[in-house]
Amino acid sequence: MTGVSRRGWLTGGALAAGGTLVGAASVAAARSEQPPVRVPEPVPASVTVGAAVEPFHGERQSGIATEPQAHAAFVAFTLRAGTDRAALGRMLRLLSDDAARLTQGRPALADTEPELGLLPARLTVTFGFGPGLFAAAGLDDRRPPSVVELPSFPIDRLQPRWSGGDLLVQICADDPITVAHAQRVLVKDSRPFATVRWVQQGFRRAAGAEPGRTQRNLFGQLDGTANPKPGQPLETAVWITDGPDWLRHGTTLVVRRIRMDLETWDLLGRTDRELSVGRRLDSGAPLTGTAEHDEPDFAALGPDGLTVIPDFSHLTRAHVSDDRLRILRRPYNYDGTPAADGTADSGLIFASYQADIATQFLPIQRRLAERDLLNEWTTPIGSAVFAVPPGCPEDGWVGQQLLD
Ligand code: HEM
Repeated sequence: MTGVSRRGWLTGGALAAGGTLVGAASVAAARSEQPPVRVPEPVPASVTVGAAVEPFHGERQSGIATEPQAHAAFVAFTLRAGTDRAALGRMLRLLSDDAARLTQGRPALADTEPELGLLPARLTVTFGFGPGLFAAAGLDDRRPPSVVELPSFPIDRLQPRWSGGDLLVQICADDPITVAHAQRVLVKDSRPFATVRWVQQGFRRAAGAEPGRTQRNLFGQLDGTANPKPGQPLETAVWITDGPDWLRHGTTLVVRRIRMDLETWDLLGRTDRELSVGRRLDSGAPLTGTAEHDEPDFAALGPDGLTVIPDFSHLTRAHVSDDRLRILRRPYNYDGTPAADGTADSGLIFASYQADIATQFLPIQRRLAERDLLNEWTTPIGSAVFAVPPGCPEDGWVGQQLLD
């Protein structure tokens, strides 16, 4: 820095708005006229990221319509032989109590690390019941018919280590230590009843990093643009309103672990990447529009006479226009340890909520499995389905309507 000392520059504001140095005389004059510069005190946020709370009790479980938190652990359990309907009731009473306390920033009963229970960071704990839970409870006749293992698709390369599960606990929070502690408590308290089948940990953008913006997956794409928005579209797509009593205000969940081949994706040019999905990488706009939320025009033709959004793009194949048939995608990125040669172990924990798997999720998945340009770089390696019971009142526990 020449002519103006560093200290003088910092305190005197010798740079004019346009970035040019102004004369020392005018700086001095301006200084004498202006009151001394006071550095404003940082305004404390009314609620910090750590202190923010999501409800646990209520008609519906949290963690579904909840604005996705930054970190998640999906924990699937296999019930031990002998965990029958009564034992399941004891287990879910205990786990609901843990969740009710931890989500509100209170340590669990007999919490061995109570200090870790004090920052809820919007913690939600969402329970899902796999087909095996209904069988263990002797309640196969009450299992929603579409909560069965998905049919196998030619694109699948499923591994048992990421598939199935009798009980799922989806733990989400804006703080990773909060997630780890909740996972530890819930796994410990499940021990008499169940063994851990798999755990999938994932992440999105940090809380507050880009408020209100759609998150990006590890291909760099904006992921979540066309999700049903809060209000009627979400109501009709996600929540069960006319099912059996025990499931009213519940939903269903499909969890697919999908590996993303970053090595071959890296070889693609930007145009091809955008064509494979049908949206631009920077703005997320459909190839026929300019802004992220512009409606895609699937009929628009380019100068070559072909559709601007390719017929086999992910967007065209996944698109659903009937609000009742849409799905709520709540995915998390995963990023494991690269292989010794640097090959990435990355992908998506694709979590989809919908009122009915058979009429909403399956038709989309079938179309994608049949033809989707994105299949070239993605491979499903895990799959699991769950019925998600409604929430519970303060004196109740999740699953009580089914199991009590
Ligand atoms: C790793 C795998 C996947 C990746 C990287 C991916 C990526 C994307 C991207 C970038 C979009 C456009 C922006 C948006 O609306 O979010 C999108 C849209 C969508 N995807 Fe996927 N997706 C994947 C798997 C799936 C699967 C397995 C399904 C369902 C079976 C699915 C269903 C949808 C739907 C319904 C849309 C919205 C289409 C519309 O109506 O505009 N995706 N996906």
